[in-house]
Amino acid sequence: MIAYSTRRFTFSAGHRYAVEAWSPERNERVFGRLMVPHGHNYTLDVTVRGPIDPETGMVIDLSEVKAVVGETIIERFDHADLNADSAFRGRVPTTENIAIVVWELLVPKLGGERLWQVRVWEDPTLYVDYRGPAS
Ligand code: NI
Repeated sequence: MIAYSTRRFTFSAGHRYAVEAWSPERNERVFGRLMVPHGHNYTLDVTVRGPIDPETGMVIDLSEVKAVVGETIIERFDHADLNADSAFRGRVPTTENIAIVVWELLVPKLGGERLWQVRVWEDPTLYVDYRGPAS
């Protein structure tokens, strides 16, 4: 009896798209107006999976997920400039890379057995799912 439980979070952060090693012209050609610093109100859905504990009826205590994600992700990235964070050194802070960074920060704390998926919404029309390097 495996179930998947998802907890939703929100944070606001700024970013711009640019590859540091590229010339301004190449960045402009590839990223256009995405090079201009701007912000998003991100929504983050963190899904954990596992057997339902017959006593508690839960996959995981979702208050634990709330605390871990709050300390690890929201406190770090809410009202932050993502380009200035060391997690994005050498990585353009796209929605894809944000999902990867969130996964990498959470997997040591929640465990690869339990962390199933990270979904990052940049806005209500665009989201990226990441389930770790193996899938
Ligand atoms: Ni953007």
